[in-house]
Amino acid sequence: MNVTELAGPSIDMLRPASRPDPRPARGEALIRLRAGSLNFLDVAIATGRYPGIGFPIVPVADGAGEIVELGGDVGGWAIGDRVIPHFMPDWPGGAMTPAMFAARRGVTVQGSLADFALVPAASLVAIPAHLGYAQAATLPIAATTAWRAVRTARLGPHSTALLLGTGGVSIFALQFAKAHGARVIVTSSSDAKLERAQALGADLTINYRSIPAWDVEVMRLTDGLGADLVLETGGTATFPLSVRSASMGGTVFVIGFLSGASPTIDVLPIMERQLRIQGNNTGPVADLRDAAAAIAAHGIVPVIDRTFPFRDAAEAYRLLADGGGHFGKIALEGE
Ligand SMILES: NC(=O)c1ccc[n+]([C@@H]2O[C@H](COP(=O)([O-])OP(=O)(O)OC[C@H]3O[C@@H](n4cnc5c(N)ncnc54)[C@H](OP(=O)(O)O)[C@@H]3O)[C@@H](O)[C@H]2O)c1
Repeated sequence: MNVTELAGPSIDMLRPASRPDPRPARGEALIRLRAGSLNFLDVAIATGRYPGIGFPIVPVADGAGEIVELGGDVGGWAIGDRVIPHFMPDWPGGAMTPAMFAARRGVTVQGSLADFALVPAASLVAIPAHLGYAQAATLPIAATTAWRAVRTARLGPHSTALLLGTGGVSIFALQFAKAHGARVIVTSSSDAKLERAQALGADLTINYRSIPAWDVEVMRLTDGLGADLVLETGGTATFPLSVRSASMGGTVFVIGFLSGASPTIDVLPIMERQLRIQGNNTGPVADLRDAAAAIAAHGIVPVIDRTFPFRDAAEAYRLLADGGGHFGKIALEGE
């Protein structure tokens, strides 16, 4: 089969290659890959910011396609089913263990820049009927993570969510938070992106470039109460402000390191406000399945900024690596 390999930690080291055609063993499904999507993780790997990668790899964690062959002892799936193989295929649900974390598509096992993928059938989630392959391929990392953020913070009609930036996770979190009836504040470096967020239902917006003390602005906008959920994507530059933006008993959902991973932490507001500082690492198959069900029930359409053919993956990587050039997700489509 045809694949695109990443031969080393540089976007310039993406190259076409071929690998043996895979056949499914017991419990496995063979997927004809139709689409993928990029995450910051993929860029981190391709720019040498993610240690421990055994190059060459077939990169890209997220994908979607159709089942073309099933191994023995697989129930509930049929040839031709449209499916999403989950990023962490061995984590079915519940708490993660080191063994469940070992297999990660596009990191430690083959990813989506290929004609086919061999995956455990138990890691598959059905594509919601209203989504195409590229839209479905945006779900595994970003939608699962956003879903967990919204559910962990138990958002409801009386809650406020503060979402940092307008990348893939934040925009899914906006859609899920609105589906839960919450009020949503979105921050961005760009007024044009904030307008797009408003069109998707954001109630309040803050440009974090023109208002660097956005934590003060969050408190002003919430009558001094703060946000029940802060989606902490920024790391070093944002974590202290995220903590100061949270409500009493609020959740700071720590997922990102867009500006670095070593913030200086003031523990006093964490104690005084009795905050929950909740770390997260994507989520299990069960959460992807729930996120997909919510997307189907609410008719949510994933927001794709641009779509590139697999063969132009390097261009897509560069768009994400440049930072700030996109809104929502960047998708990839197979030939
Ligand atoms: N741990 C997990 O479970 C998990 C899962 C998924 C993702 N992540 C991480 O979460 C982060 C976001 O992921 P993503 O896929 O949504 O990324 P993305 O699509 O690349 O979006 C990044 C966006 O964040 C905003 N941003 C960049 N620097 C910022 C800063 N200093 N302060 C505030 N906003 C900033 C920008 O939005 P504007 O252009 O609007 O300013 C940018 O477009 C990444 O670090 C990723 O690795 C973690």
